[in-house]
Amino acid sequence: MRSKKTDKEAALAAKRHAARAAIEHIRHDCRLGVGTGSTTNEFIALLPEVRDRITAVASSSQATTNLLNGLGFEVSPLSQCGTLDLYVDGADETDDHRRLIKGGGAALTGEKILVASSRRFVCIVDESKRVKLLGKFPLPVEVIPMARSSVARKLVQLGGQPQYREGVVTDYGNEILDVHNLKILDPEEMETEINQVPGVVTVGLFARHRPEVVIVGTPEGAYSL
Ligand code: 5RP
Repeated sequence: MRSKKTDKEAALAAKRHAARAAIEHIRHDCRLGVGTGSTTNEFIALLPEVRDRITAVASSSQATTNLLNGLGFEVSPLSQCGTLDLYVDGADETDDHRRLIKGGGAALTGEKILVASSRRFVCIVDESKRVKLLGKFPLPVEVIPMARSSVARKLVQLGGQPQYREGVVTDYGNEILDVHNLKILDPEEMETEINQVPGVVTVGLFARHRPEVVIVGTPEGAYSL
């Protein structure tokens, strides 16, 4: 059996392999969108190597903006970037059809906006994120604060158990409900249905907004879905 430290090192190696493979997707004159999370942070750490290929950078969160600034990248407002060539981000779950749950880091709104603004979305995960059926990871839903209870009641009607994420305020001043035990049999349909509830800002299902490629890192290398 592996020691705890070795497991940690293996997980980090997997994230790094996925991040390294995503760097290959950055072509010349790339307008790049950057996601949020520990896997994406490994990707960000490699960006100085390909600085000369990047013409503009858009960020999905304040946390990512801070990291990019720290490496000397100026982050442009999305309105000045036009259509992005590539968006790279992690995920909390992916199924075999590249449908995702995202939002574990509460940055789902910025992330979905950047996905919708990009020609190509490359998702980077380690193997622990692969599932047959989405929903074991509680589904994050960003809500306008005054609508928290009414949205929660609707989510209960849909079969879930929403839990308020205590102490978390998103970059846009909103709150997060994490929905447990939801049966997500049709992710596209559920993405649309939850999006339409008044007070919902963004649902963390990325099924209609799915990536073109999911790169799965392993301790030894990476492969694509
Ligand atoms: C943040 C996200 C992240 O991409 C997701 O939580 C995965 O993070 P990590 O790479 O740390 O596991 O959606 O809102």
